[in-house]
Parts: sequence; C-alpha cells; structure tokens
Amino acid sequence: MKLSAHNVSWSAGGVTILQDVSLDVAPGEFLGIVGPNGSGKTSLMSLLSGIRKPRSGEVLLDGQRLQTLGRREIAQRIALVEQQAETAERITARQAVELGRTPHLGPLSAWSGKDDAIVDEAIRNVDMERFAKRWWHTLSGGERQRLHIARALAQQPSILLLDEPTNHLDIGHQIGLLHLVKEQNLTVVAALHDLNHAAMFCDRIAVMKSGMLVALGSPRQVLEAQRIKSVFGIDADIEHEGDAGCHIRYRPPGPSIPAQQPLRRLS
Ligand SMILES: Nc1ncnc2c1ncn2[C@@H]1O[C@H](COP(=O)(O)OP(=O)(O)O)[C@@H](O)[C@H]1O
Ligand SMILES: [Mg+2]
Repeated sequence: MKLSAHNVSWSAGGVTILQDVSLDVAPGEFLGIVGPNGSGKTSLMSLLSGIRKPRSGEVLLDGQRLQTLGRREIAQRIALVEQQAETAERITARQAVELGRTPHLGPLSAWSGKDDAIVDEAIRNVDMERFAKRWWHTLSGGERQRLHIARALAQQPSILLLDEPTNHLDIGHQIGLLHLVKEQNLTVVAALHDLNHAAMFCDRIAVMKSGMLVALGSPRQVLEAQRIKSVFGIDADIEHEGDAGCHIRYRPPGPSIPAQQPLRRLS
C-alpha cells in the first residue's frame, strides 16, 4: 500500500505551516521524519493520516485521495500514534489496546477469539503483559506510550504513522520499540528526534525545516554535517557505516561568552 503527498500545503490561523511538501512512502519502507521543534512534523503526520485536509495539494493512498475515504476505511489501513496521545482514564491497559480493533468490528463482525489473540500478541510485542489488568491512570508515561503502540499494532494497519514514538521511553525500550516496529514488515512513517536512531532504523529520512521538506534520501545522503548545522544549528562529525548508514557525533557549542581578559591588578 502506497502513501503519497503531492505538493501539500496547510495553514492555521492565517499562517502557512506546511508549504509544498511532496513525498512518496514506498510499501514496506521505514521513513523517518526529522526536523527541529515547530518544523511541521506533526502537521505533516496529521495530513498523511487524514486527520487534517491539505489547503492545497493532495494525499493519496494507493492512488485514491484520502479525503474521499471514510474514517473507518482509513483506520483499517492507517494507524496513527499521536505525539500527545490520550486515552479515556476509566479503562484498563488491555481495554486501551482493544480499542485498536474498533475499525474491524461491525454488525456482521462481532468481537471474537481472533480479536483476543491479536490484542494479546500486540501487548506481548511491546513487553506489557504484566500490566494488562492495570488501570490506565496508574501507568507511567513510558508504559502508556508502549500501549499506544500496541493499540496501533492491534489495528493491523498496512501503514503505521508514529509521531515521536520513543518519547518517555528509556534507551532500552527506545531501541527495542524501533526494532520491533521495523520487524513488523509494515510501511512506517515515524517522526523521530534522535538522528542516530533515525540512521539506525530508517531506509530513508525526510528532513523538515520551517514547514518545508529540505532533504529526502538514505541516512547517509541526508545526514551531512553541513545540513545538520543549517537545520539544527549544531556542529557534528559523521562516521560512515556500510553503504547507506552513518553515525553522528555531536560537538559541544563553542563558547558563547568571549574569553575574559585577565584582571588588571590595582596598585
Ligand atoms: N492548529 C494550529 N494553529 C496554529 N498554529 C499551529 C497549529 N498546529 C501547529 N501550529 C504551528 O505550526 C508549526 C509546526 O508545528 P508542528 O507540526 O507541531 O511541528 P513539529 O511537530 O515539527 O514540532 C509550529 O509553529 C506550531 O506552533
Ligand atoms: Mg511534533
């Protein structure tokens, strides 16, 4: 299943937030979206998921305009884990994951043992079995985040959109989660902050700056020292790994206060 954005623009409050963004997400690829705070990553995800409609341009799912599809039709194919995902509090962890089955249920397809098995597997995948019976409001930010991912997996989408999925997670669960997502054989679009994680897991990386797509390519093509400086304002050294991989070593910012002159002795 192929997701594409063609020259999409979006504005809010009279301000242009996204300008003329075009990208194709190939079936089965893991596409990372990186960029500074406020560069438009979340806005782009909301257009790709159909939550928002572009002001101009279009988003296509297998050649069909997303706007012409119903919410349920979209949800059977695309799952979104939002940056600030919220879930009603009076439910258990397992019930939160069960919500992922909603787009597949209907008058002719009631909840069955198959749905239970899918939910169990999703919970197991994010290493949350022992929390399944806990009330949602008793869970930590990281535990909730892993369950949001499980809910998206239980939705059994073809395309998984993740907006900063590793927020709140310790380093073990950050890497574990990206590895798990990579192993699902889904098409994944993930907004990520850690450029080294993006380089480790993404087939391609899109770089956003001020609402525009400024680069798109393999980690090695995109994560160049000059680009990291111009987009994030930080100096970095890049070590190449294999054909397309790389590792970034950041340099601390230079002194911002001019070196002080030695004090003159009063005599
Ligand atoms: N509904 C909105 N109304 C006004 N401004 C918005 C709205 N949504 C996002 N923005 C602005 O658009 C810019 C991009 O936001 P966002 O897409 O959340 O960036 P990112 O996810 O890269 O941090 C920010 O300056 C943000 O304040
Ligand atoms: Mg965001």
